[in-house]
Amino acid sequence: MSDSIRYAFDRTAETYDRARRKLIPCFDEFYRAAVDLLPFAREREISVLDLGAGTGLMSAFVAYAYPRARIVMVDISNEMLEQARARFAAGGERFSFEVADYGEGRITGRYDAIISALSVHHLMNEKKQMVYAQAYEALNSDGIFINADQVSAESAELSRLSHERWLARTREIGASEPDVRAALDRMKFDRTATVAEQLEWLREIGFRDVGVAYRNLIFAVYSGIK
Ligand SMILES: C[S@@+](CC[C@H](N)C(=O)[O-])C[C@H]1O[C@@H](n2cnc3c(N)ncnc32)[C@H](O)[C@@H]1O
Repeated sequence: MSDSIRYAFDRTAETYDRARRKLIPCFDEFYRAAVDLLPFAREREISVLDLGAGTGLMSAFVAYAYPRARIVMVDISNEMLEQARARFAAGGERFSFEVADYGEGRITGRYDAIISALSVHHLMNEKKQMVYAQAYEALNSDGIFINADQVSAESAELSRLSHERWLARTREIGASEPDVRAALDRMKFDRTATVAEQLEWLREIGFRDVGVAYRNLIFAVYSGIK
């Protein structure tokens, strides 16, 4: 499974960023909602871990909002991380990169924030819960876990409808057919869960102030504080 995911993202790495705004119709609000959840003063030198960082899109929003943030980007696809390395080339040692499957290993290091965008939904539910628990362990006190991700709706029919609306919307705003087809291909590896069940897992692990900050079509942003 991890090999198929790595292969799917290795193949798309070079063109990934170009297609994003069309494939995520709520792109700005979605990433903005995630960054706005960070409860730290902007001048603080926060330590951040980005799980499934890909080309570094989410990290870039965080780095812009927190100019002194130190960010570790982890991804299973070296090709995707290559794009991130290029994006942050001028940023020096504030940014570091690690090719790894975060669904397999342990999270090492201590962080003020552990963030993820559009990645955890590739894991089976047991692994999602394991990653959330490891994130809890690796966070400093009052640290925050934020997941901006694809989710299931509350029934199969609602999921079908939100997928259909997402597909219509993405074509409406001009996503190219090859990009749509590639996205639908990658979606074969999706293992989405509902927002409600994921909030419950976070609470069970011990996170406080667990909640959903944003939801639109197949996308949601939710978080918890240690
Ligand atoms: C849709 S991209 C999102 C990238 C980035 N976070 C963004 O917002 O654009 C999903 C990324 O998660 C990575 N990924 C999926 N499963 C992973 C795993 N188990 N361990 C590490 N990376 C993983 C993929 O390689 C891919 O780069």
